[in-house]
Order: sequence, then C-alpha cells, then structure tokens
Amino acid sequence: MRAMNVQHHFGGLALCAAMTIWIVAVTAQQPPPPAQPPSNQSAGGPGNASPAAAAAPAAPARRAAIPAAASSIAAKPETYYGQYVTVYATVEKLLSPTAFTLDQDKSKSTGQEVIVLAPRLHEPLEANTYVTVIGEVVKSDAAEIAKVAKASAAGLPAAILAQHSGRAVIFATSVVRADFNDLARFIPPPMSPEEVVLDKAMKAVGGANGALRKGVDASNAELVKTNTAILAKAFQETEAFWAKRGVAEAVKVAQVARAAVDGIDKAAAAGNWNDAKTHNTTLGQQCASCHGSFRERLEDGSFAVKKK
Ligand code: HEC
Repeated sequence: MRAMNVQHHFGGLALCAAMTIWIVAVTAQQPPPPAQPPSNQSAGGPGNASPAAAAAPAAPARRAAIPAAASSIAAKPETYYGQYVTVYATVEKLLSPTAFTLDQDKSKSTGQEVIVLAPRLHEPLEANTYVTVIGEVVKSDAAEIAKVAKASAAGLPAAILAQHSGRAVIFATSVVRADFNDLARFIPPPMSPEEVVLDKAMKAVGGANGALRKGVDASNAELVKTNTAILAKAFQETEAFWAKRGVAEAVKVAQVARAAVDGIDKAAAAGNWNDAKTHNTTLGQQCASCHGSFRERLEDGSFAVKKK
C-alpha cells in the first residue's frame, strides 16, 4: 500500500512537471503577434503601413493589408469583401491541396471558420498549426473567386464551395507558417541557358532602345551609333534563340527589328533624321508585335518567354 502511495505521488509530480514543461513550451511557441505579419510586406519595419514603399518597382502594386481576426471575418463577412487582410489563426481543416479553413481558436472549433484559397502551397499544411494569411476577402461564390483568382479557382471545387456557402473566402497571396516559410509565394520557373541569354539580350535592348530614341530625337549621331550597336547584337541573339526553337514568325520579327536598326544607323550617319525616325517607328512596332505574341508577364511582374 505504502509503496503504491509513493509511486502515485511520484507519478503526480511527474505529471505536474510534464504539464509545466508543456505549458512553457506552448507559450514559447507562440509566433509573433499579428500586428507584424512575418511577410516581405513588412520590410519597411513595424508601423510602416505603406505597401508602395516596400514593393519592388516591377512587382504589381499591392494594397495595405489590415489585421483582422478570423472570427470577425466569419461573423461579418460582408464588411470585409474586397479588403486585403492579415489573419493570424489556426489551420482547422484541409479542403483541397490548396484550400483550407482557418479557425481563431486552436483548442476548439468555434464554428466560425473562414476558407483560405491559395494559388499554391509548396508544402502541405498541418491541421492545428498557426499560420499568418494575407489576402483579399471574397464571397464564397465561384464567379467571384474566378474574378480574383483565375488560375486557382480550380483549387476550390464547386462541391466544396457549396458545402461552405455563405462563408468568406480569403484569396491568399501569402500563407506564412510559424517558421516564416511562405508556402504560397511565387517562385519563377527556372530559365534554360538559352532563355538566360535572351533575358540578358532583352534587358540590354530595353536600355539601348530608350537611349536610341533620345539620340534620334536630338539628332545625336554618336548616341545613335552606340546604341544601334547594342541593339544589332541583341537582335542577332534574339533571332538565334527563336531559330533554335523553330518559331519562324518570331525569327522574322527579330530580323525586321534588326533591319530597322541598320536603317537607323545608316540614316543617322547620312544626317537623314526623318528617315531615322521612320525606321525607329518600325523598330517600335517589332517590340510590340513580338511581345504581344511571345512574351508573358509572370505573377511577380517579371517577364518570360510565353508558354505554348
Ligand atoms: C522577336 C521577339 C522580340 C522582339 C523583336 C523584342 N522582344 Fe523584348 N522580349 C521578348 C521576350 C520573349 C521577352 C521575355 C523574355 C525575358 O525577359 O526573359 C522580352 C522581354 C523584354 C524586356 C524585359 C526584360 C526583363 O526581363 O526585364 C524588355 C525591357 C524588352 N523585352 C524590351 C524590348 C524592346 C524595347 C524591343 C524593341 C526595341 C524588344 N524588346 C523587342 C521578345 C522580343
């Protein structure tokens, strides 16, 4: 009897100690408060609410996200539609590989969940873990979701949507885990060696084209010559790229662009600035023509060769 009592006593102590450790561990694990979402949007520091200051110049503009509780959004979704929000809450249930529900309370389901639809999730999320979600609140209506999220509306099948009708959906641009990993971030696909060459050529074209225009407008033969040299080389590389891909139409546009560059060069050398301007117009049309058919803008604002 006595031995059992002692054992019981020790057992109680051990349990007590374990509980304490558990409580400390849970407290220590609490990620930072929602006022400072661990995202690249807060690069300007706490209190800097200006998204424009933090945004890269090429990236599409993002609106400021207001901090909100999942329970508040769930209770009054209509006041949040169209708003950008930052929500710090628990993953409750996974609905599809890119959709899940958020609940404010980790320990119990409050029945006030909000649906999150991400454009992608690089790793599967675990239920009952904290995440910071940043995104736009939209109605749980297929047409509304398709408006903001053309590519990922498929991530939330109609049947699941129907089950959750009337709930708010956050179309997430970021889903940040406690380890600061943004599982929804856009990662541009890797470029092939040929694409790297084209990318470099086009960056050179962009700068040289602007300078060339100034040279033509100012009848500055020296400035024209420097930049037609850069453009001629770059369009040669551009032509080689498309020849290798077997895209005859793009090869032709690159050739016309290069001929226009030659025309500008010769006209400028002869002091015939009206001719130079005419060729410059032809050149500009080739940029627009090729970009319209063969270039695409990626989600992060960068450019790439359009996929077939
Ligand atoms: C024959 C096709 C073609 C022609 C002609 C062409 N481009 Fe491009 N350009 C592309 C493609 C494809 C891309 C996307 C590839 C990339 O940027 O990696 C691109 C990208 C660019 C970029 C973005 C570069 C970057 O990644 O930051 C600029 C700037 C650019 N082009 C300027 C021009 C200008 C100015 C002209 C005309 C003077 C021109 N291009 C003519 C095909 C063309």
